[in-house]
Amino acid sequence: MNRVQNKVAVVTGGARGLGLAGVERLCQEGAKVLITDIDAKEGEVQRARLAGLGFDVAFEVQDVTQAETWGSILDGAITRWGRLDVLVNNAGVGFIGDIESCSLADWRKTLSINLDGVFMGTQTAIARMRVNGGSIINIASIEGIIGEPLVVAYNASKGGVRLLTKSAATHCARKGYSIRINNVCPGFVETQMVANAVAQLPPDAAKAWAETLIKRVPQGRFATPAEIAHAILFLASDESSYMTGSDLVIDGGYTAC
Ligand SMILES: NC(=O)c1ccc[n+]([C@@H]2O[C@H](COP(=O)([O-])OP(=O)(O)OC[C@H]3O[C@@H](n4cnc5c(N)ncnc54)[C@H](O)[C@@H]3O)[C@@H](O)[C@H]2O)c1
Repeated sequence: MNRVQNKVAVVTGGARGLGLAGVERLCQEGAKVLITDIDAKEGEVQRARLAGLGFDVAFEVQDVTQAETWGSILDGAITRWGRLDVLVNNAGVGFIGDIESCSLADWRKTLSINLDGVFMGTQTAIARMRVNGGSIINIASIEGIIGEPLVVAYNASKGGVRLLTKSAATHCARKGYSIRINNVCPGFVETQMVANAVAQLPPDAAKAWAETLIKRVPQGRFATPAEIAHAILFLASDESSYMTGSDLVIDGGYTAC
């Protein structure tokens, strides 16, 4: 029950989906957690629910693409709880669009949230963790490992996150900072993001896409958010002390064949 006892964590995009599951798992194991999200209403609903369960949680509205938010968000956690141990760069979006149909606006929006946001979060957290150390967990994807014709911008953003993580992790290790930075690379998970992406397709195409995807997963199903949250907890805890610059792939065997 105490795998991250008294650690202080910030989780972006924590109002729902994988981020919320990560928040819950960290709380259950003793962390104090600042949830940030662009969705003020749902963020506050989840904060109140978790506080009602006795967890030490706070919520701040944040758009991860806005550079000026980063310092105040992380400093706010430090002011509130006296330290910062963990940052989970989880906020992300996905739009359907192949290389011929993806608009420049969708490309830029995807890269801005999924990659620029992770860059700014990682850089800002390193400046605050340099002395006492910490763990930065970037939620990449198997879509950053293999190409998927329908999601060109998402592929590019997640591939970028994976290598940003490796560059930053090796930089910190060589500098002698005790900051570890790792990627979680989920396969397909039952969340609103997947539902929204499927909803962008005509119904027949959506059904066919979902059926084809399931068939390609050796374990024959999508993951639940809780199954990904276990990996976030492991990387946040000292159990992963010799891991940095790694990809933790949780995909039911999807990329193994
Ligand atoms: N669901 C999957 O299959 C899957 C697979 C691999 C990786 N991921 C990644 O996991 C992360 C979470 O995805 P999810 O499936 O839980 O999605 P989701 O859509 O259910 O949740 C994403 C959360 O991020 C928030 N958000 C969106 N834009 C934001 C911004 N600019 N600033 C702050 N918050 C913002 C949303 O309000 C939402 O609460 C994403 O980075 C996603 O790319 C998801």
